[in-house]
Amino acid sequence: MSVTTDQDRYRLLGDLMIDSRLDADAVRRPLAPVPAYLMPAPDQGPIVELPAPAAPRATLDDVLPGRVAVRDYAPGPITAAEVSAILAAAETMDAQSWPGERAGGVGLEFFCAAWRVTGVDTGLYRYLPGRDALRRVASLPTGPAAAELVIQTEFADAAALLVVTGNLAASLDRHGSHGHRLLLSRAGAAGHAAWLAALRLRLAGTVFAGLLPHVLRERAGADGYHRAPLLAFAVAHPAAEPAA
Ligand SMILES: Cc1cc2nc3c(=O)[nH]c(=O)nc-3n(C[C@H](O)[C@H](O)[C@H](O)COP(=O)(O)O)c2cc1C
Repeated sequence: MSVTTDQDRYRLLGDLMIDSRLDADAVRRPLAPVPAYLMPAPDQGPIVELPAPAAPRATLDDVLPGRVAVRDYAPGPITAAEVSAILAAAETMDAQSWPGERAGGVGLEFFCAAWRVTGVDTGLYRYLPGRDALRRVASLPTGPAAAELVIQTEFADAAALLVVTGNLAASLDRHGSHGHRLLLSRAGAAGHAAWLAALRLRLAGTVFAGLLPHVLRERAGADGYHRAPLLAFAVAHPAAEPAA
């Protein structure tokens, strides 16, 4: 089947939802809103307003052929407007693709580990999509100590990480075991939307899954169940090409 239009994409995503009926639990009961006791713990912390998302600097057609996973980063910062665009792309992808899941109470959350973001102090933040803002949830080590956050130390040299978490407890409650697959699909779609938005800003990076669970548990209340880390995206300006 060729996928050429948004409608094709939404039909494919809809088919993923239909697959959930293969799950025995889901067949036996109608989809129900997630009960309150399965929600992740609320967080607290100062709010940092984000600027409007930076406008793309290139078309998707321009950047897609050169899309490649980049793990070597320039030491300079990226801007808060660029972070705003990357987070908004992830959020929009999930909001448009899985509105029923979100209405039922199974949300994705987007955390931003900001090391070098102009206008944003180094720290770990949760994106507040409704208001284009970040809520600071924890401090972050810097310099060589930052490497203790990730399995591959090169990702600690990124300007920022987007970390996608999901409510596994809620998704399992709603769909049975298919809930885990569905969350991973959603995180993949959001993470790649973030990646493509970054490419269109002439930034570079890669999605990756090598997060250290204890770090997010301690700093973001990610217990792996009500708030389960799913995927991350490292972003920065690419390191300068070596001279030929
Ligand atoms: C679910 C998922 C998890 C990944 N985890 C990692 C990872 O932990 N470390 C890493 O270096 N790359 C990770 N990657 C990125 C892939 O390695 C990357 O897509 C691959 O290197 C292909 O590179 P290319 O995009 O340049 O073809 C992951 C990709 C996916 C889809």
